[in-house]
Amino acid sequence: MNKLDTALVTSALQEAGFSLSESIKEAGIVLINTCSVREHAEQRVLSHLGHLKHMKKSRPDLVVGVIGCMAQRLGDKLLEHEAVNIVCGPAEIPQISELIAKAVQDRQKTLAVTEKIRRKGSQQQRRALEKFESAYGIEDERIGGQAFVRVMRGCNNFCSYCVVPYVRGPEVSRSPEAIIEQIRKLADHGVKQITLLGQTVNSYKCKHGGRTWCLADLLEAAGDIAGIEWLRFVTSYPSEEFFDQIMQVMAGSPKVCEYLHIPAQSGSDRILSAMNRNYASRWYLELLNRAREIVPGISIAGDLIVGFPGETEEDFQATVNLLEKARYKNAFIFKYSPRPGTTSDRRLEDTVPGEIKQRRNVELLAVQEKISDELSRQFLGEQVQVLVEGLSKKPHLDSAEAHGNPQLVSRTATDYIVVFNGPESLAGQFVKVKIVKTSPLTLFGRLV
Ligand code: 5AD
Ligand code: SF4
Repeated sequence: MNKLDTALVTSALQEAGFSLSESIKEAGIVLINTCSVREHAEQRVLSHLGHLKHMKKSRPDLVVGVIGCMAQRLGDKLLEHEAVNIVCGPAEIPQISELIAKAVQDRQKTLAVTEKIRRKGSQQQRRALEKFESAYGIEDERIGGQAFVRVMRGCNNFCSYCVVPYVRGPEVSRSPEAIIEQIRKLADHGVKQITLLGQTVNSYKCKHGGRTWCLADLLEAAGDIAGIEWLRFVTSYPSEEFFDQIMQVMAGSPKVCEYLHIPAQSGSDRILSAMNRNYASRWYLELLNRAREIVPGISIAGDLIVGFPGETEEDFQATVNLLEKARYKNAFIFKYSPRPGTTSDRRLEDTVPGEIKQRRNVELLAVQEKISDELSRQFLGEQVQVLVEGLSKKPHLDSAEAHGNPQLVSRTATDYIVVFNGPESLAGQFVKVKIVKTSPLTLFGRLV
């Protein structure tokens, strides 16, 4: 979501005559797009702002803006920071070029955030966001041939630990007409892969043309657009609603990638209930089984939080059990971070000590690494189709085989990362690669 917002803001500013600078030293304006999901992310922003404050001593004309969730969360408190000129929340980004122009001209601090974030925005605000979204939703040049398309904003779930509903506002699904039109435009620009985005993307729902559209309908309609080869969607919330329909479209359409990111968050029913997640671990695992029955070969990923308030060794063991049974391709594991204003922060004390969170984190990572390794190994000797993303940042592993070609990074439909040597011109192209070596998170191959 943040990558998309950054791309939208970048395009908007380029359109307004600004250009992207390679280094902070050359920049006249510095924008920091921020995340509030965990405290660590916010601390990193504050540390950047500390450096910028220092820089501004010798360069007083430098304009610094903070955009995104942290801007919405902290508002005028953030504006008080010596380094900051502009604070702009996610719903106000359509105004970003005007805000910058004003800050440059007037040399005054500017605040643009939504006061009552849980209210559905005004017609005018929604129209501005829609216009911004479709006008600037061009290809993200950093990953060849691919683009993100937001299908919904906000979230209504209120998981007790999560700040998102308080910074991104209520759930609003965009109209299928606007989404399909946007995908068509992207396809005309040569985009081959679209990733549909939403905090709970599988609950997408919108009345249009006398019927209610769900994500399955969107995927079908997007699959009919010439030039679009692969469709993905993130992130799914474990819910019965529309689940089978979405899985059936995945099974039936060659364009819908066989990949599901569906966070469990915990394996303990007691903790799941305290998290306000509305399901039990057994039901969750059954849901994964259903996905695997409908879409054979599907790869599944998940998120887990360790150290939620009150999490005992027994609760943690339940999470280990869930992880062993879920057989995720990979899992993102986080240590609970109390977020101001959330229900868990208001009602529950952060009881699990840091070192226990750390140990549980490491233990889960080890369990997952073993599973990821086993799943990766199944690819040895296989040929896979991948979409090439670009140059790989990994150290060169097979330079003898390179024939002067750089190392490229690519992805399978099932979201496995594949590294191989090939010409950079393959970025944005589909190719076949034979897997010759594996590690838990990366497959290594040769171009066929
Ligand atoms: N502490 C730790 N992890 C969190 N997540 C969301 N809120 C918190 C929090 N307060 C994790 C969840 C979510 C992912 C994006 O971040 O696992 O799926
Ligand atoms: Fe946060 Fe839960 Fe909404 Fe995901 S579903 S964004 S974890 S409140």
